[in-house]
Amino acid sequence: MKFEELSFSEAPKILGSLPGIKSKGILQHQREIEGSALSYPIGIPIALDQGKGATIKDVDGNVFIDFFAGAGVMAIGHCNPFIMEAVKQQQRKITHTLDFPTEIRIELVEKIRDIMPKDLRNKVKVQFGGPTGSDAVESAIKLAKFKTNRHSLIAFEGGYHGMTATACSLTSGKFWKEKYIPMIPEIHFSPYAYCYRCPFGRVSADCNLECANFFEHILEDPHSGVVQPAATIIEPIQGEGGSIVPPPSFLRKISEACARYEVPIICDEIQSGFCRTGEMFSFQHSGITPDIITISKALGGGFPLSAIVYREELDVWRKAAHIGTFRGNVTAMAAGVASINFMIENDLLGYSVDIGEFILSKLKKLMNNSNIVGEVRGKGLMLGIEIVENKETKKPAVELTNMVRDESFKRGVLVEIGGHYNNVVRLLPPLIITKELAGIGVDIIEDVIMTVEDNIS
Ligand SMILES: Cc1ncc(COP(=O)(O)O)c(C=O)c1O
Repeated sequence: MKFEELSFSEAPKILGSLPGIKSKGILQHQREIEGSALSYPIGIPIALDQGKGATIKDVDGNVFIDFFAGAGVMAIGHCNPFIMEAVKQQQRKITHTLDFPTEIRIELVEKIRDIMPKDLRNKVKVQFGGPTGSDAVESAIKLAKFKTNRHSLIAFEGGYHGMTATACSLTSGKFWKEKYIPMIPEIHFSPYAYCYRCPFGRVSADCNLECANFFEHILEDPHSGVVQPAATIIEPIQGEGGSIVPPPSFLRKISEACARYEVPIICDEIQSGFCRTGEMFSFQHSGITPDIITISKALGGGFPLSAIVYREELDVWRKAAHIGTFRGNVTAMAAGVASINFMIENDLLGYSVDIGEFILSKLKKLMNNSNIVGEVRGKGLMLGIEIVENKETKKPAVELTNMVRDESFKRGVLVEIGGHYNNVVRLLPPLIITKELAGIGVDIIEDVIMTVEDNIS
């Protein structure tokens, strides 16, 4: 398949000032009739009309390069014809199936078992939950509690696991929790290997992975205040936390400590899974074997679906222990099967590594050329640019980061923002973005950063 045919060839094309007149009207109407927790259209004010591959057209006919991919959902691109055909075929047959078996459901489960790394391949069970990633997190925790008869949990600083009660409790961002109390009790946070801002004040070269040692200390010290946990949950590469890639030895040490103290380890692959980081799952970069894996976003090929995948010996559920009306989204399952086939047939693993390295090598030059780019980092196509006021003090530059997003938008490139301090420009393009389109998009972002910097100096 020619990837250039998957996207609008004219991207980026901006016809006038943004938001355009039709977008403005729809955005205004939305604000009047929907709740005030809206988020994405506040940062990126457009009304969407069409998605095609790695591009998006708004209702005014402006065409954008999409470096955001629906928060990582659209791994193989918007309206990929391969997926749309599978969806059409399924929708002619049946669209809602609860957890009754269908041929396509069983095919997807087999595929998920099949794409696991060798030591888990075909030795795992798959459990579908409600359609969101948050529900996968809920069920992973529930299963770990059932299995261990314990209740405390350890999560990591900078982690994002969703917005339902348990998932939000495990999420580190204070913003979401301040007015949402009480949270689930007995959740503790351990420092992540965020080497650019090491919580122990070390620089990578002289670090002995104090963060991982600290985690083990929590488990070991009878006075750490943390009773033996039911599980620990970790993003092997953090997404919303700011595209943070820890050294592989970090996850290995965490996993070894978990094994020593018999604590199940849950790897949250909701954002980083399915070729996004250059491996099928991001825990594979460090060679560990999780006990439970949460998957969603790219799993359903653009349609809502989530699941947990876990070692067979953890299968201690009682009948109907985790139920839900929409855990049989068979349209998403058909799309999911097509999506995994597409990834394999088109070697998206190798492709995401190539395009990721191409983007990263371009962006890395910014670390020398710009005074506001503190760090450029990432793996595969999960990348981030950390914007600071000053490279010595590393003071987060939130306003400048917003300006980079806003100005990129005006020039036809969609990016979102994340990070502990909301100062990381996050790049999460569809994996089928062409080198040419990626290059055009990155050139625009670079130019925007230099212009923003010029305007403040
Ligand atoms: C790592 C991770 N876990 C969980 C979630 C929650 O998924 P959802 O928004 O589908 O509930 C997200 C969403 O961004 C995520 O990135």
